[in-house]
Amino acid sequence: MSTVGKNRRFAHPPTNLKDLTTTVDHTPFHADSRFEDFPPAKASPPFRMDLSALLHQSEMDQITNDKKLVFHATGDTGNFKNAFQIHVAELLRLDAEKSNAKFFYHLGDVVYDYGEDREYPDQFYEIYQGYNVPMIGIPGNHDGSEFSGGPNSLVAFMDNFCDARPEVPPSLRAIGVDFGRDTMTQPNCFWTLTTPLFTIIGLYTNVPSGGIVREPQVTWFNNEMKNADPKKPLIVAMHHPVHSVATNVSHRGSQEMKTLLQKACDFSGRVPQLVLAGHVHNYQRFTTTINKKKCMFVVAGCGGHAMDQLDLAVSKDTPAPNDPGVTLNFSTKDFVGFLRITATPGKLLGEYIATNGTTEPPVLGKPIATFEV
Ligand SMILES: [Fe+2]
Repeated sequence: MSTVGKNRRFAHPPTNLKDLTTTVDHTPFHADSRFEDFPPAKASPPFRMDLSALLHQSEMDQITNDKKLVFHATGDTGNFKNAFQIHVAELLRLDAEKSNAKFFYHLGDVVYDYGEDREYPDQFYEIYQGYNVPMIGIPGNHDGSEFSGGPNSLVAFMDNFCDARPEVPPSLRAIGVDFGRDTMTQPNCFWTLTTPLFTIIGLYTNVPSGGIVREPQVTWFNNEMKNADPKKPLIVAMHHPVHSVATNVSHRGSQEMKTLLQKACDFSGRVPQLVLAGHVHNYQRFTTTINKKKCMFVVAGCGGHAMDQLDLAVSKDTPAPNDPGVTLNFSTKDFVGFLRITATPGKLLGEYIATNGTTEPPVLGKPIATFEV
């Protein structure tokens, strides 16, 4: 296993992989559609973390020298150990060895249905115990959902992803298990990742369908857009997508998110080159312009939870239905997988790495789709 990261652990050696013997009595699903208050950050604004906080100096030097940085991104990975989830985890592991991916960016919905800490061993730590890559990201609606008598909204996400220091996760300590991955130390659930080649501003779009972002996050977002390094590509990550042609009405594009992004672009004078979203369990890519600048939107909630139906599956540019001025470039519902994004100076190459969820074992093949911004 090559050297990855510093001051914390990300995976077991392959010889140490083990099965969880405990079982979870999953809380039955009922819809939570309220805006949920969430815990305060343990760090101070402006909630920024540089990639050098996670990687060895030798890894940072390699990125600078090679002028190249690869990362993985997908959303909606949480599930009760179904084949989709396990196959995506295996592809991630195989691809990390091949591509030398330096981090994984989660687009939300890590744990279903209520983001409970007791679900983390089952749905997260066990599944990725062989994936020796730092895992960071933003929460989705399921990570913030509440049920009557359950834990407060988003507490488990904050404990696992926004810990004050890396440590054995409390949910694993409680059952006497260690899967080799320590807690992550993001500054907040909405936060900015800076790297030598690009910036990612990650939002927490809360629980309601379509997403809701309130103050102080709105002002923080506007300022982070304005302060982002103008010499590097800018990525915005949000769980609820601005554009989507999902059949499920609660998985369609969000006017609320569109307005939020438009106002941030107006305020800052910046337009992100790429907007990444999850929530919808398939892969879709759109292109439009904001303030006369090109902006690409990728929906990648295809991390293993399920496969969502689409109103329109296309493999060439098509006007997006009911979405004036927007082009649907590609969409498919037939796979689960993740984005492999390769950054070089001023450029991002995206590749959709996926499997049909049934082929045993999953094979790391050619990308299903590619894009460049
Ligand atoms: Fe979601």
